[in-house]
Amino acid sequence: MSNIIFTTSHKPDKFQIERALDLSKKYKGIYKNRRHLSKFLNNEEIGYFIVNKDNTLNWVMGDNTFFYHPSISKVKMKNIENENSKDYLHEAITPTEEDEILDLTLGLGSEALFLANFCKEVTATEGSFPIYLVVKESLNYYNFKEKWMKDASEKIKIINDNYKSFLRKQKDNSFDIVYCDPMFENPNYLSSSLNSLRKMAIYDKINMEDINHMLRTAKKKIVFKARKIDKIWAELKFDDYLGSRNSDIIFGVTYKK
Ligand SMILES: C[S@@+](CC[C@H](N)C(=O)[O-])C[C@H]1O[C@@H](n2cnc3c(N)ncnc32)[C@H](O)[C@@H]1O
Repeated sequence: MSNIIFTTSHKPDKFQIERALDLSKKYKGIYKNRRHLSKFLNNEEIGYFIVNKDNTLNWVMGDNTFFYHPSISKVKMKNIENENSKDYLHEAITPTEEDEILDLTLGLGSEALFLANFCKEVTATEGSFPIYLVVKESLNYYNFKEKWMKDASEKIKIINDNYKSFLRKQKDNSFDIVYCDPMFENPNYLSSSLNSLRKMAIYDKINMEDINHMLRTAKKKIVFKARKIDKIWAELKFDDYLGSRNSDIIFGVTYKK
């Protein structure tokens, strides 16, 4: 990504300016004073990162603003706490305290956050630089309302890489469980949590070779998520398929033999 621009929200304090300057050095970008930004952009559709008052980051591109929030992680935890409901991601992954999980598709990191609560560590890859940077640089500053979220956020390690190349660089059995939740073939626009990242997301299609690398990299099992109506299920084979009858999501699970 060329020309990475960092600025602040309007009327910044000195800490915001310092953070925007630090980030511009860390990521080899440039810092622009917010007051001079629109003149600099000159009506061109160029994306930029904003350091907010709470030090989290936003990505702005035209009318689209992408910001970090824990999204569905709280609902998923409520499902676990409620005896009468299930969480199929949890059931498919069955994380334990010793597990090191590789989440190939970070997105907003809400599933990574949820899983991190139950395991030792989550390493997550994200191919989109704006999504990667907003989540990575917001996670440590976001004002989580619940302690488990704050604790879990400290167990997430984020890498900006395409999972296809990342997987091929990993040694056999390097993670306990490998999980992949790519963008659906048939987008569910009712998923408001994902609507904000659609424009910057990577839409790579997974194939059986990727699945085999997931399996090689995993010690215990791999988990893949897609919609019931997605054609990808005809191309990929799994040992088990989990999901509620009422939901349109399925988790494919294959165990390491
Ligand atoms: C459906 S979202 C994942 C949502 C995530 N599970 C969550 O809890 O927020 C898919 C994400 O994976 C990323 N992605 C898709 N293909 C990728 C690839 N080949 N390498 C790395 N990231 C990829 C997209 O950019 C997007 O952010």
